[in-house]
Amino acid sequence: MKKFVLFSIILLLAACASMSSGPSASATLGSISGSNASGTVKLTQLGDGSVRVTVDLTGVPPGVHGFHIHDKGDCGDNGNAAGGHFNPATTAHGAPSVDPHHAGDFGNVTADADGRVHTEFTTRSVTIEAGPNSAVGHAVILHANPDDLVTQPTGNAGARIACGIVQLNP
Ligand code: CU
Ligand code: ZN
Repeated sequence: MKKFVLFSIILLLAACASMSSGPSASATLGSISGSNASGTVKLTQLGDGSVRVTVDLTGVPPGVHGFHIHDKGDCGDNGNAAGGHFNPATTAHGAPSVDPHHAGDFGNVTADADGRVHTEFTTRSVTIEAGPNSAVGHAVILHANPDDLVTQPTGNAGARIACGIVQLNP
């Protein structure tokens, strides 16, 4: 029995260590380009160095929408002031699951029939900690159209319909 309790405690500690999280950041996305899309994106650096991204949006036209971190932390001019995709390694645009892809290439998110996006994924393309790939200070942008994951350097995702700046949580 004692052995079992000890074993359980070790298991619990191991589980906690693997789930421990580092710094986190969030972006509040506002509507641009005449859309009604808005919401939040939360980014948490996990113990293994990956970043968990949690996306909650409403008012999004149902369907598939390109979703990226962009270069500049500026949502002006209907998001155009954010520049191109966040690309610290100067690579080609692509799907997040294949190489090469921009650090900011998060692929697509899908809005349901009620205009809601709720999705969560992990990435090793960006960090929250300071460094060349840190997403902090950059813009998160939702597009009107799907990212085709091929067209250079934008994915041909069309207008920018929601934008927010990634800010480090206190
Ligand atoms: Cu984009
Ligand atoms: Zn890209």
